[in-house]
Amino acid sequence: MKHILTCVDLFCGAGGLSKGFLDAGYDVVLGVDYDDAALETFRKNHGHATAMKLDLYNHENLDQIVKFLDKKGIRNLDVLVGGPPCQGFSYAGKMDINDKRNFLYLAMVKLTERLKPKAVLLENVLAMIEANGGVGAKRVIEDFKAIGYNMTPKILFAPDYGVPQVRRRVFFVGIRDSKKTFEFPTPTVQPEQYITCEQAISDLPSLQTEDGQIIRGEKVQDYMTPPNSSYQEKMRENSSKVYNHTGSIPIEKTRKMIALVPEGKNYLALPDEYRGLYKYHEALTRYHSKKPSLTINTGHRSHFHYKWNRIPTVRESARLQSFPDDFIFFGNQSDQFKQVGNAVPPMLGQAIAEQIKKYITETEE
Ligand SMILES: C[S@@+](CC[C@H](N)C(=O)[O-])C[C@H]1O[C@@H](n2cnc3c(N)ncnc32)[C@H](O)[C@@H]1O
Repeated sequence: MKHILTCVDLFCGAGGLSKGFLDAGYDVVLGVDYDDAALETFRKNHGHATAMKLDLYNHENLDQIVKFLDKKGIRNLDVLVGGPPCQGFSYAGKMDINDKRNFLYLAMVKLTERLKPKAVLLENVLAMIEANGGVGAKRVIEDFKAIGYNMTPKILFAPDYGVPQVRRRVFFVGIRDSKKTFEFPTPTVQPEQYITCEQAISDLPSLQTEDGQIIRGEKVQDYMTPPNSSYQEKMRENSSKVYNHTGSIPIEKTRKMIALVPEGKNYLALPDEYRGLYKYHEALTRYHSKKPSLTINTGHRSHFHYKWNRIPTVRESARLQSFPDDFIFFGNQSDQFKQVGNAVPPMLGQAIAEQIKKYITETEE
C-alpha cells in the first residue's frame, strides 16, 4: 500500500499552508497555535487533524507534540511546516531584529531536532531576507544546518502559481539526508495569464443596493451570478452558498472619497483638498479589476473593492488568497481578517507540497 505522507503545521493559524498540503494528498495530523479562533478555523477545515493549543515560546510544550505523535504511532514524521510570526521583521511593523517574536522559529528548529522529519518547510516575510543584511534568514539557515538540514531559501510570487494576489514571501525548505539542493516548483502561470480580481470575485454578492447604499448582508448568502471564470468554478467546487461575506459599512466621508478613486489608483487620485489626509502609500487603494490584488493584509482597511465603494469582505479576501468557498472562517470579523491575511495561499502551499513530495519519495527509494 502507498504510504500517505504525514504533515504537522506549527503556528498553523487558520491553516492556509497545511490546506495546501491536504490538497496535495498529505495526511495533516496536527496544527499548533495559541489563538483560539484560528484553532477553531483550523479544526473545522482540516479533516481529522487535531488542533492543539500551545504557547510555542516555551519549548517544554514541545513534549506534548512528541507525545501526541507517539500515541498516534507516527514515529517518522514526513514533513514539518510552519510560518512563525514575523512582526519583528515585518516592514509593516516596527523593525527590531532582537524582537523576541523573531526567535519563535526556534520552536521549529527544536522540534525538527527531536522528530527528524524527512522535510521541513518554513515560511516568512521578505524582510527576513532583505532587512539588516538578511540576519533573520542567516539565523534560520545556520540553526537548521547545525542539526543536519541544509535549508534552501527562495522568494515566491503567488500569481506565478495561480493566486490572484501580488503576494511575495520567502520559503525555506530542507530535505533530510539529501545531497541535492531543493528546487522550488517552477511557475505554472505566465504573467499575461495572471488571475485578476474580476476573475476571482465577480460572482460574489455586491452588498450594495441599486441606489448605491452598502448593506451588511446575511450570514449565509447565494451567489450573485453563475461562475464567470474557471477560477470561480474551482473555488465553488464544494460549496453552494457564500459564507463570511458580510460587509463593513464605511463612514459617509470614506464612501464619498473612495467613489472618487478610479480602479488601480489610490488617495493620490483624490482632489487636492482630500489628498493631504493620507500618508500611508497604500491608503484608499482601489483594486484593479484586470490585475491581481495587492497583498492581503490582516485587516488594515486601506484596500477597496475594484467596483464597489467598500472594503473587500473576508470571503473576497479569502478568494484572493485562493481559499475555496467551503473553507469557513471562525471567530469575530477581525479574527477572520487576521486569519486570512496571515495565511499562505493554499494554492501556493500545494505547489510546494507537491514538489517536496517528489524529493521525499526519491529519498525513500
Ligand atoms: C503568520 S501566522 C501563520 C499562518 C499560517 N501558516 C497559515 O498559512 O494560515 C502566525 C501564527 O503564529 C501564532 N503564534 C504567535 N505566537 C505564538 C506562540 N507563542 N505560540 C503559538 N502560536 C503563536 C499566531 O497566533 C498566528 O496564527
